[in-house]
Amino acid sequence: MKTIETKRPLIVVNFKTYTQGTGAKAAALVKSLENVSLHHKMDLVVAVQPTDIYRIAKTIGSTTDVFAQHMDLISPGANTGYILPEAVVDAGAGGVLINHAEHKISIDVIEKTIKRAKKLKLKTIVCVADASQAKAVAVFGSDYIAFEPPELIGGDVSVSSAKPEMITDCLKKIKLMSPLTELLVGAGVKTRKDLEQSIRLGASGVLVASGIVCAKNPAEVLMSWIVEHA
Ligand code: G3P
Repeated sequence: MKTIETKRPLIVVNFKTYTQGTGAKAAALVKSLENVSLHHKMDLVVAVQPTDIYRIAKTIGSTTDVFAQHMDLISPGANTGYILPEAVVDAGAGGVLINHAEHKISIDVIEKTIKRAKKLKLKTIVCVADASQAKAVAVFGSDYIAFEPPELIGGDVSVSSAKPEMITDCLKKIKLMSPLTELLVGAGVKTRKDLEQSIRLGASGVLVASGIVCAKNPAEVLMSWIVEHA
């Protein structure tokens, strides 16, 4: 498992099942993003489909990590089509997204998945839709909680401009329950301003998908988050 230095903004790019983030294209996308992050003050996590974890894990450097987008609470055996946590580790993942808005699970399963991930030394990012859910899951001590208002996902209005007070509220509630858990924010993140505003509000980084994966030139977008264009 990689050790990501979290003092720098952490950029978690969720490839979802976008064509641009699948298979050989996923590998090329990771390379181009990594080229940017390696030369600047960013840590990069890519959350890819289970079929791409091994391929990506083989090529990434020490400041990039690959996460699974989900895993199932199953044990080795007869569970056709499910994602075995041990297989995620074996494929080379360093962490897992849990309870993404597009793959929700119950609070009970969230707790058990975090426990299982910890046992396997996988880092955990638990997605939540609001501050009360953040408080409810913070007690399980995940590494990160990602606040993503579902209605802003995939849009052009960023969570940091639409709901700044909710970010602050989430952070307060998380730290109350689990001081070591860090906050990420996501949904509609498209610009450097969105990233900066998120950090200013106390987040450790952002969880982003379409703003990077679907961009015409993803590396250029990531670069624009670091370097001001003249
Ligand atoms: O996991 C990140 C995601 O749900 C946010 O999506 O497209 O709004 O960046 P997007």
